[in-house]
Amino acid sequence: MEVFDKIDELLKEILSLQPASADELEQFRIRFLGSKNIIKPLFAEMRNVEASQKKSFGQSLNNLKEKAEEKYNSIKGSLNGQDGSAQNLDIDLSLPSIPDPLGSRHPVSIIMNRVINIFEKIGFGVEEEREIEDDWHNFTAMNTPEDHPARDMQDTFYLKNSTKYLLRTHTSSVQARVMTSQKPPIRIIAPGRVYRNETVSARSHCQFHQVEGLYIDKNVSFADMKQTLLYFAREMYGAETRIRLRPSFFPFTEPSAEMDVYWGLKTELDHKITKGTGWLEILGCGMVDPNVLKNCGIDPEVYTGYAFGMGIERQAMLKYKIGDIRLLFENDVRFLKQFSSTI
Ligand code: DAH
Repeated sequence: MEVFDKIDELLKEILSLQPASADELEQFRIRFLGSKNIIKPLFAEMRNVEASQKKSFGQSLNNLKEKAEEKYNSIKGSLNGQDGSAQNLDIDLSLPSIPDPLGSRHPVSIIMNRVINIFEKIGFGVEEEREIEDDWHNFTAMNTPEDHPARDMQDTFYLKNSTKYLLRTHTSSVQARVMTSQKPPIRIIAPGRVYRNETVSARSHCQFHQVEGLYIDKNVSFADMKQTLLYFAREMYGAETRIRLRPSFFPFTEPSAEMDVYWGLKTELDHKITKGTGWLEILGCGMVDPNVLKNCGIDPEVYTGYAFGMGIERQAMLKYKIGDIRLLFENDVRFLKQFSSTI
């Protein structure tokens, strides 16, 4: 059928034409949409079309018209952008824009990210876990007995009307989460926020951040832990940094230790923050207690491991010489702005 061929031909033309200027677009409009457009006379052909084909003929013609309109509108829209028809608008497009004020990283995030990077480099994965914990993961699994003072209502934030759910008091709860859901070898760090019912003062707060570390495998030794922590201290505080481990006690490790880094004793401030010793405590650590492994379904006859936990605020305060922990949680922009040059 000749008129059908004609319609096809026009459709191809409409789809392939790309009017590139206002003039060309006007030619397009006159040809396909103007009062004497090329589509109009085709409608008169309707009476020559067989009855069975009338419907599809009508639809093809309408489609042709629609396609021409669509093309016209879209090209008109894009040409408007370029050809200065915005000149009529009462704005000066050459003015520089008003920049959005850029924020900066929070000092806690800066330190947290550094710690994470240091451990990621030696193959520790990152586990982020819930802040609302049950007492099993926070205490029981971690070998902390029922009568331990940390379990006291006065020491810990329990959820309303609950003695089971609480805001985790340390990231050690993630140890239990990971050991009950993954099989050794396990090598993770767990950064996050923790809560304690403490009176807020310049030195302590009811919320703070920790990074937990856990390494479980066959034949993991205390020497492995010490070497890993020495690597951490040197990455964090400089290649010459010295560390020492002092015996300590934590219910979930045996033996347990606290790690100090040597800070120096040159200035009066050094004396003050190291209490005259030159050493600064930065984390707790130890070999995972066999009871903890058992509680989490790991055979202590086959596997051993070490764990550590460090506070982040304290390290941020040392690094940036911040004298009051409360500043870290007030979000005063004048305080936060001072870290905008640090990444
Ligand atoms: N959870 C302890 C705290 O909040 C810190 C800690 C000490 C974590 C020794 C450990 C560890 O994993 O082995 O004070």
